[in-house]
Amino acid sequence: MSTLSIATAKEVFDLLRDDLAAIEREFAEQSASPVSVITEIAEYLIAGGGKRIRPLLLLLSAKSLGCESESRIKLGAVVEMLHTATLVHDDIIDEADTRRGRPSSNTTWGNSKCVLAGDWLYMQAFHTALEERNFRVLDLLISLTQQMVEGELLQMQKLGHLINEEEYFDLIYRKTACLFKVSMQLGAAITHASDQVDGQLGEYGRNLGLAFQIIDDVLDLTASEEVLGKPVASDLREGKATLAVIHALERGTGADREAIRKVLADRSFANVSHTQILEILNRHGSIDYAMDTACAYAEAARLSIADLPDTEAKRALLWVPGFVTSRDR
Ligand code: IPE
Ligand code: IPE
Ligand code: MG
Ligand code: MG
Repeated sequence: MSTLSIATAKEVFDLLRDDLAAIEREFAEQSASPVSVITEIAEYLIAGGGKRIRPLLLLLSAKSLGCESESRIKLGAVVEMLHTATLVHDDIIDEADTRRGRPSSNTTWGNSKCVLAGDWLYMQAFHTALEERNFRVLDLLISLTQQMVEGELLQMQKLGHLINEEEYFDLIYRKTACLFKVSMQLGAAITHASDQVDGQLGEYGRNLGLAFQIIDDVLDLTASEEVLGKPVASDLREGKATLAVIHALERGTGADREAIRKVLADRSFANVSHTQILEILNRHGSIDYAMDTACAYAEAARLSIADLPDTEAKRALLWVPGFVTSRDR
């Protein structure tokens, strides 16, 4: 194991500031369409901000392998564009009305236009990726897209049902962790890294992505909408059982299980309140269980890159898992 210390947030952003700014410019340039409504929606999405964690990972992956080529900026924009397009589609599917502390794009422009704008943005990302003339890049992005779509569809099939942990991890891998993994692997692809290094960076992304979605699901249960910037307690209202809920279902009393089942089946808190559900989850230590599981994946992410050479980028990669598990939005 490396003796390298973990970086601070300031060091990470100092290291990446110029590249992240270049990615913002690239994303903005890529969003110009002759059809003004597309540009309007894209500009609105870009202005909404967001953590930009996927491009950050791609940059750190590339930098950890010594990459200085322009490809890292282009592909950094590509992963953020793909992510943005999936959020547009996700908010339509989830009927969500806020995102990043503002009305979601579907609320402002309606579902029909947003489905199409999401498709356009998605294809624009592929267009940019194609400029790399690198089949590995396309292979990664195409498989990723299929995984994400399969994940959304599997999730839909399971709405309102009790799922087990194995099904939960399969879903969150497809819908979230796969893009984290691919962001890391794209960094490897543009530096023509060995299969071994590609494997280590990919494993880091997978572990980190799983931690990330577990935390997103915990925040959905425990956060306030003002801080989170998107609807809270929405997973249960949509019939989605997430890790803490699955834990409580397996350990709860008959009455506890019945209460959770009721909310999932009703897809509302009309008969059992959000506070009652939180009481059940806390009584069984289910929120702590989910947090501990996320922290274990965060640690697994750090261990995945133990063999990488000691660089500033590696130090930053060691910082990211702690950021992911301690975030509040
Ligand atoms: C939200 O992703 C969708 C999930 C995979 C949970 P982020 O939490 O990265 O969203 P932004 O980009 O920071 O808004
Ligand atoms: C993330 O799942 C799905 C995507 C890959 C877009 P969520 O439905 O939990 O994401 P949020 O909470 O709306 O951001
Ligand atoms: Mg959603
Ligand atoms: Mg969520």
